[in-house]
Amino acid sequence: MTPLGEGADAPRSGFERIAGALTCRGVSLEEAAGEFGTPLYLYDAEGVAERVRRFQVTFREISFLPAYSVKANGSLAILNRIAALGAGADIVSQGELERALRAGFPPERIVFAGVGKGEEEMVAGLRAGIYAFHVESAGELDLLSRVARDEGRVAPVGLRVNPDVESPTPHAYTRTGHAASKFGIPVEEAEALYVERRNDPHLEFLGIDAHIGSQIMETEPYLRAFHVVLGMLDRLREGGIDLAYLDLGGGFGVGYDGEEGLDLEDLAREIVPPIRERGLQLILEPGRAVVGESGVLLTRVRYLKRAGVKTFVITDAGMTELIRPSHYEGFHRILPVRETEGAPRVIADVVGPICESGDFLARDREMSLPQPGELLAVKTAGAYGFTMASNYNARPRPAEVMVEGGEVHLIRRRETLDDLMRGEEIPHPREAPGPLKPSECP
Ligand code: LLP
Repeated sequence: MTPLGEGADAPRSGFERIAGALTCRGVSLEEAAGEFGTPLYLYDAEGVAERVRRFQVTFREISFLPAYSVKANGSLAILNRIAALGAGADIVSQGELERALRAGFPPERIVFAGVGKGEEEMVAGLRAGIYAFHVESAGELDLLSRVARDEGRVAPVGLRVNPDVESPTPHAYTRTGHAASKFGIPVEEAEALYVERRNDPHLEFLGIDAHIGSQIMETEPYLRAFHVVLGMLDRLREGGIDLAYLDLGGGFGVGYDGEEGLDLEDLAREIVPPIRERGLQLILEPGRAVVGESGVLLTRVRYLKRAGVKTFVITDAGMTELIRPSHYEGFHRILPVRETEGAPRVIADVVGPICESGDFLARDREMSLPQPGELLAVKTAGAYGFTMASNYNARPRPAEVMVEGGEVHLIRRRETLDDLMRGEEIPHPREAPGPLKPSECP
């Protein structure tokens, strides 16, 4: 471990400290922040590509579709690079469908999940010719069949099953595979649906899907879900319903504190043989594992403040840029972009400018005390960073840049004040009264 805690993962993640200053593949983060301003999301395109390839290589012995989960990071440039590697996309809305198509994903590599798909979204998916809808309730299946009939099409379907396994994710909000979750259809009900609806001329059952949660570090919960789904698939096959693919969802954990992420090879060792034996296609839907470690959020310190026993480092980024610390108690390393010799070690809260007590990037964090004006890098922010950013407090969302081939490219400009008010109208605008008269002054 270096004193600043980058740990041994620094080169692996594409971010490295050279002569005291953090860089991404040789590009200075200080220069990028100087040119594009802060807060700024910066991504390592090469790192993203490496991680997609890692999935492809690990599962090369079988028919495999990595369907990147667009919700993790849906910026067009990032999507384009992932699509260009032959990956597919996992989407949950018409907006994500449009993004995926515009970025270049072939529709036949797109799967569409989500518990509450609307009719328009079904129409859009059908017209685009996506690979499959992942249907999460009997009601949704009914509607999809009707919409497909009206469109004169057959809807490709995989039922999303709830395998009822507990998944040890760091926060309850990211667990989805247990019976009490709103996601998926209980196994017995799903099995019955495949049988009852097999002759519906507007549905074509292609596969089966499960997703048990996010930021899972162990293979064991996946294996439990896998065996539930595989058992179902075998029973259906015996009954003459031959499904082509098995989708185990996403959720593969990454090391937010320098630790190793989920061991994909270990997972592959267990699941590849039964899949190969059955001649099935495997779909996985990694989001975070593709983009998480390849992004940082750059933020500048505005003020230091001491209140009672607390030290606050007040930065120009907060929960509007990165909501994970506040919403999931998510941990992100925060590093000075340039090391300062002799900076005292303190325990501080790193907080943003937003008017909420829940607005923080870190709490009670041991760190080198930075000075106002200093640049900090919030690590492992490539997933669920920008995509969950908001305009709360009327804050423009930050710019995004991508490092590729030793250069920094702007991939999304910072929002302007006009962007903030786009689409709003004041019916019959009224004027405010003129200045207060002296007699009206308190
Ligand atoms: N497939 C489905 C059906 C999903 O619901 C998700 C994530 C994924 C794939 C991708 O999961 P990943 O590989 O990225 O873990 N905002 C939270 C995570 C929410 C995940 C929602 N679903 C966070 O920042 O931790």
